[in-house]
Amino acid sequence: MDNRLRRRLRNLSIDNYNAYYRRISHADDNDLELQLFINALTTNETYFFRNKRQFNYLSNIIFPELIRRQQKSGEKKIKIWSAACSTGEEPYSLAMLLYEKIFNIGQWNINILATDINREVLDVARRGEYKSKIVERMPSSYIKKFFMKNKETDTYRIKEYIRKMINFYQHNLIDRNSFGKMDCIFCKNVLIYLDNESKTEVISNLIKSMTEKTYFIIGYAESLMTNYSDYFRYIAPSIYQKKSTFEA
Ligand SMILES: C[S@@+](CC[C@H](N)C(=O)[O-])C[C@H]1O[C@@H](n2cnc3c(N)ncnc32)[C@H](O)[C@@H]1O
Repeated sequence: MDNRLRRRLRNLSIDNYNAYYRRISHADDNDLELQLFINALTTNETYFFRNKRQFNYLSNIIFPELIRRQQKSGEKKIKIWSAACSTGEEPYSLAMLLYEKIFNIGQWNINILATDINREVLDVARRGEYKSKIVERMPSSYIKKFFMKNKETDTYRIKEYIRKMINFYQHNLIDRNSFGKMDCIFCKNVLIYLDNESKTEVISNLIKSMTEKTYFIIGYAESLMTNYSDYFRYIAPSIYQKKSTFEA
């Protein structure tokens, strides 16, 4: 991160962090330098089906339960939020898994919202094209079914019907949102980088998109230790639900 930030200073011919801070603190939301600053600060590491045990739990317990519940209510609607989606591997993994689990998916209303603060990673995510060495870690049945290979660029692109299941937006988790209630919220490997105050703010915003049936999934190395710790009940490792006694 430090190197990336130093490169920004060099490009602008600014020789100290205080001067750069002054430049950034006067920037408005559309200022390109503000975006470049955010990009330099954020860690974007991600991969398909990250945390295998969590995806197994999703596949065996959560998705079947959601599907049953929706079939019973006759709504056939599933709404999922990947709240720090980076270059898209997480929401695409969710879309592929849902595609595998739902019979007649064309008759369903599947809405996967994928957001991130960083515009650069969102551009990569929207394109859905990844280097072969990234994709080829996945089971070959998934690759055959969901990807198209481009031999010239040595990349694979996610097929259109999976890409279309996801809406990508830029969103800062510190800001309030009006995305509505979700069936699942993935907020993985981002809370760990936040100080306690920001983490509390992010969680209070996320709670507004939860009912007591929403599954809230965080990274293995993360905790929900904030003013809101008591709001959640434990379901499985790194998977929680809001207690019904707390309304947002
Ligand atoms: C390490 S990646 C995690 C990606 C994915 N969730 C995973 O677990 O593989 C962290 C992502 O969080 C994003 N991020 C950091 N701060 C954020 C904020 N305040 N609001 C939204 N996204 C943020 C970064 O841009 C980055 O893409």
